[in-house]
Amino acid sequence: MVISSTQAIPDTEAVPQHVAIIMDGNGRWATRRHLPRTAGHAKGVQAVRRAVEACGRRGVRYLTLFAFSSENWRRPADEVSLLMRLFVQALEREVDKLQEQGVRLHVVGDLSPFEPRLRELIAQAQDRTAGNDRLHLTVAANYGGRWDILQATRAMLRARPELAADPDAIDEAALAEHLSMAWAPEPDLFIRTGGEQRISNFLIWQLSYTELFFTDKYWPDIDAEALDAAFEWYRTRERRFGRTSAQLRDAKR
Ligand code: FPP
Repeated sequence: MVISSTQAIPDTEAVPQHVAIIMDGNGRWATRRHLPRTAGHAKGVQAVRRAVEACGRRGVRYLTLFAFSSENWRRPADEVSLLMRLFVQALEREVDKLQEQGVRLHVVGDLSPFEPRLRELIAQAQDRTAGNDRLHLTVAANYGGRWDILQATRAMLRARPELAADPDAIDEAALAEHLSMAWAPEPDLFIRTGGEQRISNFLIWQLSYTELFFTDKYWPDIDAEALDAAFEWYRTRERRFGRTSAQLRDAKR
């Protein structure tokens, strides 16, 4: 049973169970070094590898990465195609390693505009790792939080057409079970690198009660130590979920 932060008071575990990351700053990392932006994305893949390993070792159960937003199609065509090539390469090269590490891969987002080869690799990688449960790695690709809420609404009405005539019967749970990450608990910790302090249409439904951590470090510079600093900060937070401090103390007794 997935515990939603809005329903119950989950413990503030020593390690966040679900970490969601916006990996920002690849382009600026490269520009600072007089390199093409695409070199920053290639370095970004190495940081993804480090993050997966570090989260696995520290006992994080769900790691969700925003790899490509619905808005990223607006980038120059060569940058978009390089990003696609990096996804393909990562899927071809890294799946064995994910398998060794007990990582289950999920990809969420509207995959329909992606090339058939990429979609096929995604399906294969998801199938191959489907038996793993140590760490659930979710890559959000062509994902947008508003898209997710819309697709969930459509899916809900397809599954329960009677709700269209009785809107008052719709509750949060009815919609939430159709969100693309309905199988995962809501993120405990959100991290955005690269200095911006925005959610940028990431998991907008699920981030309602998440602790938000922002760092100026660029994504390619993120390593286990940088993640530990975010986890350390997370441990200092008191998560009240709309309740009072006294209620939280009582709940823990
Ligand atoms: C943001 O940096 C990063 C992206 C849009 C792409 C993230 C992709 C990767 C890290 C590589 C592939 C990932 C996987 C899971 C294989 P930016 O380009 O917006 O940087 P900027 O803000 O400095 O321009």
